[in-house]
Amino acid sequence: MDLLQKILIPFVGLVLAFCFYSGKDDFKPEMLQGKHVIVTGASTGIGEQMAYHLARMGSHILITARTEAKLRKVVAQCLELGAASARYMNGSMEDLVFAQNVVKKAEELWGHLDMLILNHVGSSYFNYFNSDIEHVQKLLDINFLSYVAMTVAALPMLKNSGGSIVVVSSMAGKVGFPFVVPYSATKFALDGFFSSLRQEFAIQNTNISITLCILGLINTENAMKAVSGVFDSSSPAPKEECAFEIIKGGALRQREVYYEYTSTKIPLLIRDWAPGLLDYLIRRKYNVEKVQEN
Ligand SMILES: NC(=O)c1ccc[n+]([C@@H]2O[C@H](COP(=O)([O-])OP(=O)(O)OC[C@H]3O[C@@H](n4cnc5c(N)ncnc54)[C@H](OP(=O)(O)O)[C@@H]3O)[C@@H](O)[C@H]2O)c1
Ligand SMILES: *[C@@H]1O[C@H](CO)[C@@H](O)[C@H](O)[C@H]1NC(C)=O
Ligand SMILES: *[C@@H]1O[C@H](CO)[C@@H](O)[C@H](O)[C@H]1NC(C)=O
Repeated sequence: MDLLQKILIPFVGLVLAFCFYSGKDDFKPEMLQGKHVIVTGASTGIGEQMAYHLARMGSHILITARTEAKLRKVVAQCLELGAASARYMNGSMEDLVFAQNVVKKAEELWGHLDMLILNHVGSSYFNYFNSDIEHVQKLLDINFLSYVAMTVAALPMLKNSGGSIVVVSSMAGKVGFPFVVPYSATKFALDGFFSSLRQEFAIQNTNISITLCILGLINTENAMKAVSGVFDSSSPAPKEECAFEIIKGGALRQREVYYEYTSTKIPLLIRDWAPGLLDYLIRRKYNVEKVQEN
């Protein structure tokens, strides 16, 4: 344990840092200029910040979430920041017809789509699994099936543009974390669907990139509220930079984005060799007494 923390982790960190910083990183904000982008879950949090970055980069933006009042404000702010155009569509991703209609709206508005950023998540509980199967099903609709529905609807436009699909996932979509059983299930599902689809795109020479984003703890209001007191949330990463890294990874057509890099990548390197150890290290981050048993 001590040996691992004192020698192996810093060593792996150095190797990774070297690979990371010497790898080519030729992102330019102009890459997004005049591009047509859909961002889901953009009324708050990381999605809202992505809309602002895209606006500064001069993209055409279509954002969506349920709360119309918030979307209207984000659109106004985007126009002020320099968006080529900004529109919204409000509705719930529980409704797969709505999910497809968002893509249809982009088709009507632009006849073109360069990037589909799938980011929304339905609210869940932060506690022991409560055996509520209906909740799992509902969350799968919102967090997973609507992503599939939007992807299917967007494929023709993305094929035409050589576009990109960006899927926002989590550490909890790569390894088990306690108290987020339904959420974790939906995020693992995204990895399976999109990683498999990426393979088929490669076989078929379909020029659509798929970027899966593995995020650690980010300082959005909802996330901070959920974990407060229970999870060691002393150093969440900033949502503004997180949003930028997601857009950058999508524009560079990377297969995966890890943010914040070392705190997500290193644990996942341990995962395949010592899963029990990783599980233990994760459990240590929780103040389990603070979790109310149902
Ligand atoms: N923050 C973190 O620590 C963290 C860590 C790992 C991964 N992530 C991932 O990052 C992404 C963004 O997270 P965040 O923290 O920015 O979340 P957030 O602040 O809670 O925002 C979630 C967004 O989804 C929308 N939404 C919720 N339910 C919806 C529904 N039924 N239909 C349509 N839209 C709905 C919300 O707007 P309305 O309520 O108006 O609908 C909001 O715009 C998520 O995929 C999340 O899993 C976050
Ligand atoms: C959009 O928001 C408005 C105002 O809150 C509401 O009346 C309408 O039903 C919403 N549309 C959808 C598709 O949910
Ligand atoms: C795929 O699309 C990208 C972005 O549109 C483009 O830069 C690249 O040249 C395309 N690749 C092929 C093989 O057509």
